[in-house]
Amino acid sequence: MNVSGVVRPPGDKSISHRALLVSALAGGRGTSEFTGLLAGEDVKSTARVLRQLGVEISTLRDGATVAVRAKRLTSPASRLHCGNSGTTARLLLGVLAGQRFQARLTGDASLRRRPMRRVTEPLRAMGAEIREERGDSLPLSIRGGRLHPVSYTTPVASAQVKSALLLAALTGNVAVTIREPYRSRDHTERLFVHLGLDLRERQSVISFQPSAQRVPPFHLAVPGDASSAAFLVAAAALAERGELLVENVGVNPTRTGFLVVLERMGAHVERLNLRDQGGEPVADLLVRSAAQLSGTAVSAAEIPTLVDEVPILAVLASRAGGGAETVFREVGELRVKESNRLELVAANLRAVGVEAEARGNDLHVRGTERPPRGRVDTARDHRLAMAFAVLGALPGAEVELSERKSVAISYPAFFADLRRIGSNARHRG
Ligand code: S3P
Repeated sequence: MNVSGVVRPPGDKSISHRALLVSALAGGRGTSEFTGLLAGEDVKSTARVLRQLGVEISTLRDGATVAVRAKRLTSPASRLHCGNSGTTARLLLGVLAGQRFQARLTGDASLRRRPMRRVTEPLRAMGAEIREERGDSLPLSIRGGRLHPVSYTTPVASAQVKSALLLAALTGNVAVTIREPYRSRDHTERLFVHLGLDLRERQSVISFQPSAQRVPPFHLAVPGDASSAAFLVAAAALAERGELLVENVGVNPTRTGFLVVLERMGAHVERLNLRDQGGEPVADLLVRSAAQLSGTAVSAAEIPTLVDEVPILAVLASRAGGGAETVFREVGELRVKESNRLELVAANLRAVGVEAEARGNDLHVRGTERPPRGRVDTARDHRLAMAFAVLGALPGAEVELSERKSVAISYPAFFADLRRIGSNARHRG
């Protein structure tokens, strides 16, 4: 496989959700406008549920400027279906915690298996009424109310938990203080600060004090998604020859653990044209094919900065030279993503001839030079489909994916882009 050319990843999924949710809460007249917003299924889920709550949002289409006209949120006529999107469900619960009406949330089969108490417990502590139907998962109903301030230490390093509390504080007009075990992505904090809200971070304690002044309508150019870019960067690093320019990538340090680990494995990625876009650092990434990758150990503290990149990093680790082992420490959270990524990454690597194993909460992968051959079960998880598609693009590879449609969740043009940058991908399924 050779790579060449220039490619742009789609808009950042996390920032796109936040742009819609925060602009939906804007006060006063005027319209918020976004360019570069991801037109993927997950962000469409957020747009759909916000429309059900009375917000006017123009059509999400690749390349379109998206306009949001905030209205006072109103009680939805039917249940709010969050599709496959954990971010939609958990951040929306935060928004609804400060609203005086009842709403029922549900999602697809994958989302209905994912834990919600990590968010509902602190929101209850703030004063929201939440009724579970099936324990720690969707569907559930929420009735917001008069909230009280809270100081909360979250047991999981989760940007979704942190963001739900910040959004509850914003809609309920109460102060919150949040501590997390390791620092997770900070897009909500950055957006609040960018909009002039009183959010402070000192020694990893986040304090937010909403003021009577409402969020103004705002404009934002959404950076490209570092997690989507990771698949392109990986394809270039694994290529036999060539270099690839991946343009307009968000390089927020809470998201770039993938690049740090990849460089530790021996690949070279240059960050060019570093700039700021709406409070987020953005760069163009120049990636050259790596002569040889080495194994590494990824620590628990690094995991939140690359939590969505473990599948593609595991694929890279499977190509480490000299049979070197890579270990990802404390990746138990991967069990509760869109699929059980911890077990499925290991099982799928084994299915294509790689030694890989989940031991407790750690993931071990041993490098091999044998071309990957076998059938991969993506479990309709977009990041598994993309990670194994990159593996399937290696010379001599015969990787059959159980499906490819799931990439529409976060990167609808993924297969077209992978083909375009010059891989010799052969995918079936
Ligand atoms: C996200 C946070 C992460 C990540 C997810 C998006 C966000 O989840 O895995 O894809 O936008 O806040 P956790 O908060 O559960 O770690």
